[in-house]
Amino acid sequence: MALRTIVLEGDDILNKKCRPVEKFDGRLEQMMDDLVETLAATENGVGLAAPQVGILRRFVVINVGEGPIELVNPTIIAQEGEQEAVEGCLSCPGEYGVTKRPMSVTVQAQDRKGNTFTVSGEGLLARALCHELDHLDGILFKQRTVRMVDPEEEQEGAAEE
Ligand code: NI
Repeated sequence: MALRTIVLEGDDILNKKCRPVEKFDGRLEQMMDDLVETLAATENGVGLAAPQVGILRRFVVINVGEGPIELVNPTIIAQEGEQEAVEGCLSCPGEYGVTKRPMSVTVQAQDRKGNTFTVSGEGLLARALCHELDHLDGILFKQRTVRMVDPEEEQEGAAEE
């Protein structure tokens, strides 16, 4: 396992659409381990997507405090309601904005072995799922913000993703 450098806004890789994972092999395991480890080493991170560590493939890890959830080739298959909350991104340090997201989502994905499963989340988990899946399509949270917030009025508990 190895810590990877988190790519920052301004790097083209964050605007690109990632390709599906097709091979569920040792290399994917290695990359997923790196992603999990890199997220765990961040201060307030609740999610990290492969392109944020320079890999243009469709996988992410999310941890809202209950352990890492690994999602390969994830897609949202259901969503309900609406929420507005302050969001940040590990690729945009020090910047926060209010985004409008579904209150709950259900995502279908594969695990690192290629087995299909679904995960449902509300609140923060729903937000993290939407945020990370956006990264796989080259979309940053700033493209979803209702308004940016002043870092001065910061922001207990704002999630970094
Ligand atoms: Ni992010």
